[in-house]
Amino acid sequence: MSRVSLSRYLIEQTRSHNTPADLRFLIEVVARACKEISHAVSKGALGGVLGSMGTENVQGEVQKKLDVLSNEILLEANEWGGTLAGMASEEMDNAYQIPGQYPKGAYLLTFDPLDGSSNIDVNVSVGTIFSVLRCPGECFSQNEPLGEEAFLQPGTKQVAAGYAIYGPQTMLILTLGDGVKGFTLDREMGSWVLTHDDIRVPESTAEFAINMSNQRHWEAPVQRYVNELLEGKAGPLGKDYNMRWIASMVADVHRILTRGGLFMYPRDSRDPSKPGKLRLMYEANPMSMLIEQAGGASTDGHQRILDIQPTSLHQRVAVYLGSKEEVERVTGYHHQA
Ligand code: AHG
Ligand code: MN
Ligand code: MN
Repeated sequence: MSRVSLSRYLIEQTRSHNTPADLRFLIEVVARACKEISHAVSKGALGGVLGSMGTENVQGEVQKKLDVLSNEILLEANEWGGTLAGMASEEMDNAYQIPGQYPKGAYLLTFDPLDGSSNIDVNVSVGTIFSVLRCPGECFSQNEPLGEEAFLQPGTKQVAAGYAIYGPQTMLILTLGDGVKGFTLDREMGSWVLTHDDIRVPESTAEFAINMSNQRHWEAPVQRYVNELLEGKAGPLGKDYNMRWIASMVADVHRILTRGGLFMYPRDSRDPSKPGKLRLMYEANPMSMLIEQAGGASTDGHQRILDIQPTSLHQRVAVYLGSKEEVERVTGYHHQA
């Protein structure tokens, strides 16, 4: 059987679903940048890319060399092609302006250039998460700098979302709003090959992912739910659950897209100004679109994440995503509280 490459899949989408040619080109360029990041990640100490930069990003987190390098790779790959009106990244304070010498386009790209930074130096899977929005109105044709407001659209407005995972295999998981496809990087050929045609999240699961060390800071509904999970067969849920926590959202979500599960990063009582750790625009929205497109669910405990109207670029949210039954259960506990 002939192999279907990412390029061929995108061209077929253009024919069958009217995917615009500029969106196709944009996805191709993002995927090419991810190939480059994958290469840098896999070199590790040989490429001199491990360790920290000695700087902090806008959220006060220490930047690793690979956070900064991946950010640069994505900016350089995407700034000249004429498909974008601007970009925003977890690693940059403000919206990135397309340099004046290049044409502008109709889309906005947001990304977490390297997710799971704490795992880089220990050789555990990391990834790149991205989301594509349309630039509202004619914002790309204006000469004024692009403001933050253009990006502040609910996740339902995403036209594409995906991630690359740099693990034992490098894979690209993508949705254009018509199901979820998985491509594996064939390193010898340098091409992304469609290997997972219709990714689905099972509705029920007996596996959950949460950083248990934060337990004392969680709110009552999460305490109740996780206690019930830990009670297993003898408790009200009547079954034994298994726990996994990789601490790279891409890797935890990848496991859930592969065999089901529930991922939780609850809101934390430590700093009321930060409702959760994960970022709405770079992490929660793209992952929620993928999970929903695969038949799963995603909420912040109270509402569907994709319905949240963002108020700032670097906004954080609580995240509960994965197999429908468990997401609905933990969300229900929040509503009862
Ligand atoms: P990033 O490396 O982009 O800052 O994101 C890390 C996130 C996410 O990948 C993961 O789920 C979570 O932080 C891990 O948090 P803990 O440190 O609480 O395990
Ligand atoms: Mn991240
Ligand atoms: Mn990151």
